[in-house]
Amino acid sequence: MTDDLQKRIAEALRNPQNLGELPGADAVGTVGNSDCGEMLRLWVKFKEQNGRKVIDRATFQSFGCETAIAVASLATEMIRGKTAEEALALKTEELAGELGPLPPMKIHCAQLVEGA
Ligand code: FES
Repeated sequence: MTDDLQKRIAEALRNPQNLGELPGADAVGTVGNSDCGEMLRLWVKFKEQNGRKVIDRATFQSFGCETAIAVASLATEMIRGKTAEEALALKTEELAGELGPLPPMKIHCAQLVEGA
């Protein structure tokens, strides 16, 4: 992993957004990766906005992997205000957002987030 990426992940980890269970969530998604044993759960709550059903809040819980936590933290911020379809259309690279390109070994961490 490059120093730069390490730094950006550390940054996201220092102040992870939207951590924890979301009470009254409308949807929950859980995915696991059998290789590394990581599990990630994502909660989503919708609201009505201008006649559209958009994501009001999203939270996550992750068990271990720092990259997955960093990506989930960014992703839960990114999908706010989007419809479910728009959020689902986001690609792994987009979810990883400002973390920039991930090294091959770490791509599945972001895919975990996409899956959830
Ligand atoms: Fe498996 Fe990151 S190492 S989710």
